[in-house]
Amino acid sequence: MPVTVIVGAQWGDEGKGRVVDYFAAQADIVARFNGGDNAGHTVIAEGHKLALHLVPSGILYPHVTCLIGAGTVVNPLTLLREMETLRDLGLDVSPAHLKLSAAAHLVLPTHQALDGASETRRGYEAIGTTKRGIGPTYADKAQRVGLRAGQMREPNVFAEAAGALVDAHNERLVHLYGLKAQPAGQIVSQLHQAAEALAPYLVDGAALVGRALAEGKHVIAEGAQGTLLDLNLGTYPFVTSSSPISGGALMGLGVGPKDVVRVVGIAKAYTTRVGAGPFPTELEDALGEHIREVGHEFGTTTGRPRRCGWLDAVILRYAAQVNGLTDFAVSKLDILSDLPTLRLAVAYELDGERIERFPAEWGAEVLARCRPIYEELPGWQEDISHARHRKDLPAAAQAYITRIEELTGVPASFISVGPEREAMILP
Ligand code: GDP
Ligand code: IMO
Ligand code: MG
Repeated sequence: MPVTVIVGAQWGDEGKGRVVDYFAAQADIVARFNGGDNAGHTVIAEGHKLALHLVPSGILYPHVTCLIGAGTVVNPLTLLREMETLRDLGLDVSPAHLKLSAAAHLVLPTHQALDGASETRRGYEAIGTTKRGIGPTYADKAQRVGLRAGQMREPNVFAEAAGALVDAHNERLVHLYGLKAQPAGQIVSQLHQAAEALAPYLVDGAALVGRALAEGKHVIAEGAQGTLLDLNLGTYPFVTSSSPISGGALMGLGVGPKDVVRVVGIAKAYTTRVGAGPFPTELEDALGEHIREVGHEFGTTTGRPRRCGWLDAVILRYAAQVNGLTDFAVSKLDILSDLPTLRLAVAYELDGERIERFPAEWGAEVLARCRPIYEELPGWQEDISHARHRKDLPAAAQAYITRIEELTGVPASFISVGPEREAMILP
């Protein structure tokens, strides 16, 4: 049995956590392949409401091995706090159930301070990062000066290396940004303790996944963020510093493309974005406010209000291509109930010309000039949260989904109509 990759098709928060939780029932391994605790994945099942940041969304299933993969960046201090919260809920977060790849890079408190400092310096051109230190950590990784999780195996040696990196970060905080140094001694002692606690969790993640695949086991690759936040193919510079697309799963877990049989793109039935950057179908009016309220569109990680807008098929077509999507899972369809008409962007107008293609490579300035060309579809007024088959949906809701499939060429095999595990329409 092979790899199923689950990615966000928009700007994140599409409902990846709940879809991964659904797939995890049939999986042996659920592995996060990118990002860090900038992610916030919600799983509502078995009487729990989990807000997961680093721990994979398969954690509710005792039979599933949860791996934090090589492509991720892990803040050891927040990981331990998250594990504590889960342990308090009675969940198993022992090394038998949860594993951390030795090649994952570590986020230090000074990475967070640098993230904040860099955002402040950018002023009104700030990216609107989650200030979790994600960018500075991937930058250190690319500079080849970062710390890898595997170094925690020897806590004393690790503490020395961490101290040197903290000192280097403090140099920048003080001399480049004119800020106060972070308390190095305290940080190193916290990291030393964290290393002792996390050492038993360390594994060779690619070896673990490779062995599982050789034994015919089923691996779910859980993406964080979304396609348009991809460092290479997203709306640069308003992106994250990793690869949330399906290609990121290959690099971030150490599997080959032939192992992947299914790539599911999660698409919210409308569009949201947190942080700065262009957003062609954004609704900066009462309707946008209505969607934010009804859809509870406030960040799982930062609590920031999410910007809301109409569904954008130009984005979904792009996501289908760059991820090689085999299926869409359309989430939060229930939030659109009660609207008289729905709008769906089918193309853009750019400088007087119609374009069908998402212009990601031309950068944020070009995207900011794009005006959506909408199609209008009738809405529906019924409560659809109890629908479990496509035919249970009102005709207008069925037509909306069919139109998404026509515009993208990808089947919407899964449709979620509520946040709970059961609230899902299956193929
Ligand atoms: P993720 O980051 O992609 O995992 O998504 P988040 O967890 O950040 O945000 C998705 C939010 O929508 C969470 O609060 C989910 O509980 C909720 N949610 C997911 N699917 C549905 C759905 O179909 N209907 C409703 N009403 N809420 C949903
Ligand atoms: P999940 O996995 C939505 C956004 C931030 C900012 C940009 C860069 O829950 O979908 P970063 O801290 O990564 O350097 O911030 O990326 N961002 C997310 N937006 N969902 C997420 O994760 C996000 N993770 C980062 O808001 O615009
Ligand atoms: Mg989220």
